Amino acid sequence: MKLILLGAPGAGKGTVAKQLTQLDGSIQISTGDILRGAVQAGNELGKQAKGYMDRGDLVPDTLIMGIMEKRLQEPDCQKGFLLDGFPRTIPQAEALNVLLNKLGLKLDMAVNIDVPRNVILDRLTTRRTCSNPKCQAIYNVKSMPPKKEGICDKCGSPVVQREDEIEAAISHRLDTYNQKTAPLIGFYEKEGLLLTVSATSSEAVIEAIRKYSPPNP
Ligand code: AP5
Repeated sequence: MKLILLGAPGAGKGTVAKQLTQLDGSIQISTGDILRGAVQAGNELGKQAKGYMDRGDLVPDTLIMGIMEKRLQEPDCQKGFLLDGFPRTIPQAEALNVLLNKLGLKLDMAVNIDVPRNVILDRLTTRRTCSNPKCQAIYNVKSMPPKKEGICDKCGSPVVQREDEIEAAISHRLDTYNQKTAPLIGFYEKEGLLLTVSATSSEAVIEAIRKYSPPNP
């Protein structure tokens, strides 16, 4: 599978991507995880990205395209990839098309996970994430708590609340999504790649992806 996961913050892109990787060996590429790893490592990319991320703003397109150009050429992408949180703007989507053409790759679909705003707000304030940059497992204090409070089931690292999870940043991220990322729904509809799934259960989203066959060009 080579697919893009679209959807507002908290729609469940990361959760669905992690489950989809179990199906066919495709890998999850989350620009958010890559950036948080860089912030935690304190490297140059992290220093440049931190301010934007904490405010809930998008990191500049040039930085993101630099990351993705390298990432998509790594050997583990050959079995397929799930792009989680990328592209985020029309210029990123256009640059991705150019990059995929250059690499001789074709997307199978762009999945828009459509979840009501009240569900999203509730999920984001109750989400917890593994602090180990190599793991980044996702939990939820209500629906999916770790077995031992505050400790990751998978790697034993502390499970924490993300820095952009305060209410002001969440509301800014949702506004940014509506202004800059939601137009991608129309972009991928025109490309004939869009699958919209209105569901709050990740199982329903995965089932819709499994059943989808793209319309003939
Ligand atoms: P990023 O990490 O991509 O964050 P996001 O898009 O805001 O998405 P989230 O990770 O918040 O949500 P999600 O949809 O993955 O939901 P999840 O599965 O975790 O980006 C962070 C920042 O990095 C951005 O603000 C920006 O600054 C920067 N950035 C990243 N990419 C960029 C780009 N391309 N360009 C520019 N800047 C970029 O689920 C949420 C919660 O809900 C969890 O607790 C989960 O357990 C729970 N949940 C999920 N599904 C279900 C379900 N079915 N039932 C019950 N609970 C559920």
